[in-house]
Amino acid sequence: MTRILTVPTQPIDGQKPGTSGLRKKTKIFMGPHYLENFTQSVFDAIGGVQDKILILGGDGRYFNDRAVQVILRMAAANGAARMIVGQGGLLSTPAASNLIRKLGADGGIILSASHNPGGIDEDFGMKFNGANGGPAPESVTDLIFTRTQELTEYRILEGADLDLSVIGETEMGGMAVEIVDPVADYAQLMGELFDFDLIRNLFIGGFRMRFDAMHAVTGPYATAILEGILGAPKGTVVNGTPSPDFGGGHPDPNPVWAADLMQAMFGKDAPDFGAASDGDGDRNMIVGRGIYVTPSDSLAVLAANAHLAPAYKKGLAGIARSMPTSRAADRVAEKLGIECHETPTGWKFFGNLLDAGRVTICGEESAGTGSDHVREKDGLWAVLLWLNILARRIEPVEQIMSAHWAEFGRNYYSRHDYEAVPSERANALIQRLRDISADLPGQQFQGLTVEQADDFAYHDPVDGSVSANQGIRIGFTDGSRVVLRLSGTGTEGATLRVYLERYEADPARHGLPVEEALAPVIAAAEEIALIREFTGRAQPDVTT
Ligand code: G6P
Ligand code: ZN
Repeated sequence: MTRILTVPTQPIDGQKPGTSGLRKKTKIFMGPHYLENFTQSVFDAIGGVQDKILILGGDGRYFNDRAVQVILRMAAANGAARMIVGQGGLLSTPAASNLIRKLGADGGIILSASHNPGGIDEDFGMKFNGANGGPAPESVTDLIFTRTQELTEYRILEGADLDLSVIGETEMGGMAVEIVDPVADYAQLMGELFDFDLIRNLFIGGFRMRFDAMHAVTGPYATAILEGILGAPKGTVVNGTPSPDFGGGHPDPNPVWAADLMQAMFGKDAPDFGAASDGDGDRNMIVGRGIYVTPSDSLAVLAANAHLAPAYKKGLAGIARSMPTSRAADRVAEKLGIECHETPTGWKFFGNLLDAGRVTICGEESAGTGSDHVREKDGLWAVLLWLNILARRIEPVEQIMSAHWAEFGRNYYSRHDYEAVPSERANALIQRLRDISADLPGQQFQGLTVEQADDFAYHDPVDGSVSANQGIRIGFTDGSRVVLRLSGTGTEGATLRVYLERYEADPARHGLPVEEALAPVIAAAEEIALIREFTGRAQPDVTT
């Protein structure tokens, strides 16, 4: 007989969900009661899980398998009706979002620290998504945090582990557990959105692609869809087997961490198209032969060409981008005559707009793009939409980009990150900008005149909620812009992000090196924000 244990516990400090769930060092998550306390707080904050159906899976990082077993036992002890779990405890974030929606579940738990490294000395994370398939809104994450601060006990079933490797239905203390193929439903959805026959023909015609799964969860998805269904040659997907420590790397699809892919795409005999995805499969990186496409540009190009894919043939309702994302997409929205929204950083802010049918495509500079097909950003979706567009236009990526810039102008863009800055100093830098922002308009810095400056506050047009203090925006009269904000996903000190943007309408000036095009904006950012003085750093740690 399995027994339900009620275990006395005490609140644990710091269980405050950030931009994307609770993210901590793995060893912290493995500490006494840590995972259990947080899981019980999630359950309590959503009004209990009695008779509810939840989806459960993760990106396969170290401790994923153990955490799944604990959460299953706790769900059973808390009276859940059914848990639907990806085979082996695996589910990409977009696939989990799809399952929640498709199966009408009450929500889901996703185990991931996204693009952060995995392993016993690295990071682990847990996030809760609601019945719409999207990340819990702040109202819910606030309730979760409050609950963590008052928790006195949690419930868990005694008993042995379940075998997660076998697809099918089993039972645990009266709760049904259904183990599903993590890929099948997702692949079916992609087949409904895109013209798979056309893409298949592209590969038959000799089109070559390299998809770097970065030893993370998209390996099985990309292999099944690209090499399996779409007939891309074997070997198109590299690093396709998920490993608990992501092969020792950062599963972060950007030119720094996906350096191998960059090298292949800029090297001799480069394939036509390159792409990568992150730990949990929601981020993407797009590279053409000899050309890197920034996430902000990718959003704009996808929005401008989405009508070439069956699911978006009717056109888009609107476009949304996070505030620091470049304004390239705004120009597309303007031309298409559709709504354009600027939201705070974090995919959860798109949820209301998507649910209300106000926007179809969303994107963030942090390598996230997605649409109303799920309520998460979706790495492989972006790659498949690109493929669908390439299969229709039969033009190299480079040509698609230059044509796009010629039509809309180019938003040169770069992000400078200052990592592990002592929190007081980073906070002081932002506070000072808040204090002086009202006085900046009209002032000149490095030849640029400030037009507007504020600390971004978002007024959600759907539910009327206000999210304040979302980052400093400084716009200049020539269309350039600097944004400064502190990362919400770091696990050590503060990370200052400085986002730099300059608009260039003249096609004769679309081929400049990015740092050169941005030089005046970079200098103005330094003069206004005193980054060196506050951080004590002469250079950013990472430039993307
Ligand atoms: C996560 C969220 C994204 C967000 C990103 C920002 O990946 O899912 O929606 O854009 O964090 O991270 P940051 O470190 O800049 O707060
Ligand atoms: Zn991610």
